Amino acid sequence: MRRSNDITLADTHVSHFGTIPFVLSQSPGRVNLIGEHIDYSGGIVLPLAIPLMARVAVSKPDRVSGIRVHASDLGESIGQDLQEYASHPPPPGHWSHYVLGPIAMILDLAPHPPPMDISFSCEIPSGAGLSSSAAIEVAVLRAINTLLDLHLDPIEIAVRCQRAEHRFAGVPCGLMDQAASALAEPGQLLIFDCQSNSGSTINGIEGSSVVVLDSCVRHKLGESAYSERRNAAQQAFARLGKSLREIPECSDSPCLSVLSQPERDAADHAVSELQRVRDAIDAITEQAPDHLGKLLNASHKSLSETLRVSCDRVDQIFHLAQSIPGVYGARMTGGGFGGCVLALVESARREAFTAEITAQAACTHVLSHAW
Ligand code: GLA
Repeated sequence: MRRSNDITLADTHVSHFGTIPFVLSQSPGRVNLIGEHIDYSGGIVLPLAIPLMARVAVSKPDRVSGIRVHASDLGESIGQDLQEYASHPPPPGHWSHYVLGPIAMILDLAPHPPPMDISFSCEIPSGAGLSSSAAIEVAVLRAINTLLDLHLDPIEIAVRCQRAEHRFAGVPCGLMDQAASALAEPGQLLIFDCQSNSGSTINGIEGSSVVVLDSCVRHKLGESAYSERRNAAQQAFARLGKSLREIPECSDSPCLSVLSQPERDAADHAVSELQRVRDAIDAITEQAPDHLGKLLNASHKSLSETLRVSCDRVDQIFHLAQSIPGVYGARMTGGGFGGCVLALVESARREAFTAEITAQAACTHVLSHAW
């Protein structure tokens, strides 16, 4: 069945390109419940796919070559030869990388893709840490997978999109965002193992809701801070000669004393966060919102004070959330330096919570999800 937003995008596509879409696809954004800044170290993460989507329409025009892309939200368009794009990509920073990048990553399977007209729209706020770029990438590659009959499975789609993000968008991200977009349906919580690249879904805690609040502070992951954290973690584990999974929780352990301070902070955060993820899976299985809330709070503390990837506004929303009745816990979510805060709230109190925190902290309510 076609959804109304698909129909809107299909209409825009027809009026812009004059051709009827051959494929329509969509992928969700995500909010990460817990497991922050550990996907790139082979950790375990718990992203929740949200019902905010990126949508893509693709048609096969009657011309010899080339790809035309229309960003319907922005009213902007580009035309490009794919081989030329892949060999001489423009610098990072333009939206076209999220569309052309993933397609360039299938040139090994389809060296001469047919001409295509592509439109896309995205209702996930950009820069809010809700993974809008990964959702666009995955929706694009899903559509191309169908169009060219490539038989890529969801993990292969996610991995190719991650490579596109590295190579063309210039962001050295882990696999969490693309995996959540490719593997989970909106509303599903995913347990994703970034060592084996495998995932399964798990039900949430009855009677509690996840509320997502946008601090409206915008980050740019391409900026150096994310890469610095990732590099520090990589150097730490290389220097220790062990992977994240092989190190016991040991913030004051002598095993970390050989590291520089940034490496030690990165390792310390990662080791403790991985343990919190394991505990969070137990808390969810045992339907224990109080325990899960404490783990969220501890995750925020580690991200803010040890890894230092939060910011004043996000910390302020976090602290304010603690003082409102019905809140089990809260934390920043996503890459950091702005973006969103999620709160785990008693479902019966979520409307009162949302009204109070948006009034007091001047943040924007993105969604409430009962799970
Ligand atoms: C961004 C990256 C992810 C992950 C998070 C932090 O969203 O794209 O791969 O590293 O930051 O957990």
